[in-house]
Amino acid sequence: MKRMLALLAGLVLILAMAAGCSSAPEAASDSAEPSQAADAASETPAAEDSAAESPASEESAASDAQGEVLKRIIGNGKLIVLTNAQFPPYEYMGSDGTPVGVDMDIAQAIADQIGVELEITDMEFDSLIPALVSGKGDIVAAGMTVDEERKQAVDFSDTYADAKQMIIVPVEGATVASEEDLAGKTIGVQLGTTGDLYVSDNVEGADVKQYKSALEAALDLKNGRLDAVVIDLLPAENIAASNEDLVLIDMASTDEQYAIAIEKNNEDLVEIINGVIAQLTEDGTIADSTAVHVEASRVSA
Ligand code: ARG
Repeated sequence: MKRMLALLAGLVLILAMAAGCSSAPEAASDSAEPSQAADAASETPAAEDSAAESPASEESAASDAQGEVLKRIIGNGKLIVLTNAQFPPYEYMGSDGTPVGVDMDIAQAIADQIGVELEITDMEFDSLIPALVSGKGDIVAAGMTVDEERKQAVDFSDTYADAKQMIIVPVEGATVASEEDLAGKTIGVQLGTTGDLYVSDNVEGADVKQYKSALEAALDLKNGRLDAVVIDLLPAENIAASNEDLVLIDMASTDEQYAIAIEKNNEDLVEIINGVIAQLTEDGTIADSTAVHVEASRVSA
């Protein structure tokens, strides 16, 4: 009987050891916890730290898997922003031949936040999304309107400006006096912009002429080759401000918001950009920058 008990006890011991062995990896990680718990018990701030650390480390593990673009930016020591510098005050050529504007100020703040240099690549507006998706740049900052079709290809940050479309017409001899009059007319737009999409999709019988910039379209309007030009509010105001023979008509049916475009699956980068946009919106930097560039781009026009 004693032997049986001894044998049983031995068996229980072996089983217990086996169980202990099989959970050895967990036991190891478990053993880290008691020491943290001990720290936590002796020092309240440490408890807060370790509580704050665990979700953060989970997050960075997730973003390690996702954040190729942020990794690339840090690895290269520079943030490459893609833009089309034909859109004052958001982006236009500065006196030294480098694009400047509200978007470039935002892009600079994002680069500063990450701790890298800013490099600007200027290209046609309709090349921006393909270039972003093929990795030729890290972000697009180009007064780009958030829309469903673009969302299929890229992600957008939080928005930083409201906009709408405007109709530019000549002061003398205009054939268009309201949005309704656009039907059947010859209308200039910047290729690939929401103005282009709007007129092409919604205006009956319009003959849409696509230009590389709204300014080029406006020149053709002045030359009598177009009935109207459709482009975003502030660029339209910029053109009207330096062309006394042109006026603007409101297009109340349109309502747009600008955001930064980022390659999909880069949540960590989106978060950084959203933080910067929130900060610059709250402290009035975006409003100030807009006012400064509205003035500066008028003078240089
Ligand atoms: N907001 C319009 C759009 O998203 C026009 C943007 C044009 N921007 C530029 N930098 N040219 O289509």
